[in-house]
Amino acid sequence: MPDAGSTDGTDGAGRADAAAYLPAAFICEAEAWLFGQLAARWSGRGRVVDAGSFLGASTRALIAGLPASARERAPGGSSKPLVALDRFVVGDAYVQKALAKLGQARARGESFLDLFLDTIGADLRLVEVRAGDVTRVGRLDAPIELCVIDLAKSQALNAHLLSSWFGRLIPGVSVVVQQDFFSPFHPWIAASMASMLPSFDLAPWRIGESAVFRLARPLDPERIAAAAQRDPADAAAWEEAARWSEAFGADDMKLLRLGRCVAMAAETGRRARAVCEWESLSSETPPAACPKWPRLLRLAGRALGIEPTHVATHEPEPVPLDSVMR
Ligand SMILES: C[S@@+](CC[C@H](N)C(=O)[O-])C[C@H]1O[C@@H](n2cnc3c(N)ncnc32)[C@H](O)[C@@H]1O
Repeated sequence: MPDAGSTDGTDGAGRADAAAYLPAAFICEAEAWLFGQLAARWSGRGRVVDAGSFLGASTRALIAGLPASARERAPGGSSKPLVALDRFVVGDAYVQKALAKLGQARARGESFLDLFLDTIGADLRLVEVRAGDVTRVGRLDAPIELCVIDLAKSQALNAHLLSSWFGRLIPGVSVVVQQDFFSPFHPWIAASMASMLPSFDLAPWRIGESAVFRLARPLDPERIAAAAQRDPADAAAWEEAARWSEAFGADDMKLLRLGRCVAMAAETGRRARAVCEWESLSSETPPAACPKWPRLLRLAGRALGIEPTHVATHEPEPVPLDSVMR
């Protein structure tokens, strides 16, 4: 978990810490704790990558967990253990809204790198900052030991990350966190991870929308290429994913099933099947510990052209739209 800092949300030197940013960050406290626990296992055999750092909440959670050896070995330059990558420029609407909530109104195209650097402060000695589009600045030549991914925002970006980075994972050592794994609006992530299932062991729980995978067996380039090309609307992708139900349980599988509906919604020939599955999901008990469920269901229904009133029965507290569509 990130340092709690002082009660005014600073580290005592007036610098905002990750906990202070959490309300506007895209991780919950449990995810911050998880990232710290994973970083604490860092052995130094590869880099730690925070892909999609935004204001640095995930970066700080990782820094907080790094073992003392990381601090001792990090004089600067390419030996910095952690790579933090983001455009650091307001691109998507949800980024702009999150900044506005913090009282940091920024125009489209404007940089927010200054805020990230404030969050990181003196720990910048541990962090190599890559500012720019991942397709331009994301090349990594070293092995990757821990890869926390929060920018597989499109099927194309997901394919790019897989092709560029997954060959750098170390069998028996590396861990991948997919922060959007359980988001029904990023179904390509579950579909591609499913097709690499034989190589990965997975932690059998969901924290926020994150899932954790450990590369247990070597991953050959052909399998990575096939995963990168995996069509999330393809039935074969979900037959593989169905094998996860033992690990995650039926409740968390509902989020993945909803993702499949969203993927199929885009394909005319499969819409009827998607509507059928959506109706089945909307009549089932909502997944426990998932306050976003009614809204996710409604947004997925909208993608299928279904009237949102069908899902009014399970409505809990309202959830801000941008906390869902990140
Ligand atoms: C949901 S936010 C990350 C949240 C962060 N991990 C946290 O814990 O608060 C996703 C980030 O991905 C970045 N991003 C999206 N597409 C990108 C791209 N193609 N290249 C680089 N960064 C990108 C956005 O700028 C945004 O800051």
